[in-house]
Amino acid sequence: MEKKITVLAGDGIGPEVIQEGLKILSAIEQKFNHQFTLTHALLGAVAIDKTEDPFPPATLQACQQADAILLGAIGDPKYDNNPDAKVRPEQGLLTMRKQLNLFANIRPLQVYETLKTSSPLKNHLLDKVDLVIYRELTGGIYFGQKTLSEDKQTATDTCSYSVLEIQRIATLAFEAAQKRRNKLTLVDKANVLETSRLWRKTVAALAPQYPTVAVDYLFVDNAAMQLLLNPAQFDVILTENMFGDILSDEASVLSGSIGLLPSSSIGNKVALFEPIHGSYPQAKGLNIANPLATILSVVMLLDYFNLTQEAQLVRHAVTSALERKILSKDLVAQDAKFYTTSAIGDDIKNTILNS
Ligand code: IPM
Ligand code: MG
Repeated sequence: MEKKITVLAGDGIGPEVIQEGLKILSAIEQKFNHQFTLTHALLGAVAIDKTEDPFPPATLQACQQADAILLGAIGDPKYDNNPDAKVRPEQGLLTMRKQLNLFANIRPLQVYETLKTSSPLKNHLLDKVDLVIYRELTGGIYFGQKTLSEDKQTATDTCSYSVLEIQRIATLAFEAAQKRRNKLTLVDKANVLETSRLWRKTVAALAPQYPTVAVDYLFVDNAAMQLLLNPAQFDVILTENMFGDILSDEASVLSGSIGLLPSSSIGNKVALFEPIHGSYPQAKGLNIANPLATILSVVMLLDYFNLTQEAQLVRHAVTSALERKILSKDLVAQDAKFYTTSAIGDDIKNTILNS
């Protein structure tokens, strides 16, 4: 198979985790005789430094021409601590999501048996946890009109959703539920927000088309609590942009580390694959970041290309590394021995090549 992949390493630990993701892609290429042609492009703070634009036109073009995009992470503290900054790395990510119409962000979460002790939750709560969050990614408060009054004393962010925007991601979530355990939970704040009431109405209207899927509705505050009290109750969680952002970070705690969670973002053409974590600037250049979220994003990319056997092989290699306690710093007790980012990538690569 021949595919074009655009690689956006981004900021902070982005380049380090991407290097491991690419190591795995090249092992798969070698083992199965595929050809993945890589194009590297700029996104985030690195793009601002070089072009003054967090999502330069050349990057848009490289993304449009690709079969898939692999992204590391973006973000830099020099912008976080400066509320007056005119451009921010995050704008690049948001503009990219919007321009490529990546409206559905899919964040699966599983708990690895060997990592249960890495989670702060009581272990019995983690039995049978296997859920996926369908987060709407190109609408809501992230993209609504923003204002700051002239005297700078008042600001607004507008949350807006259309039925069409809700329907297109809800359809994907229902289809996913049909292939999983036939349960869909819509998370909203319909007791307060008009947009949430529109989500509920729209999802309820779609539900009869999926008679095998049991639908339930949770307010986001309750959902945040239920994720910790009884996470095994969830199968597919469908939610709007900001709630999905918050709940997916929370859910990652169940798995033991945010460094384990991959994601895919899909729209009507190109798809993008990225870890859900940020750029972790404190770890930049130290070779201590967990590369598994990126490697598991590569697994999602392979699945997207229908390379099922290849995806399965990488998945097994990851599980094998975890079982042999090849663990990064975030997964071990303080001061305990850990493996470096590149050592973990090497281990997984070797398992793939030797299998
Ligand atoms: C994520 C991130 C982004 C988001 C940030 C970096 C803008 O937190 O992908 O979850 O909020 O969508
Ligand atoms: Mg987030």
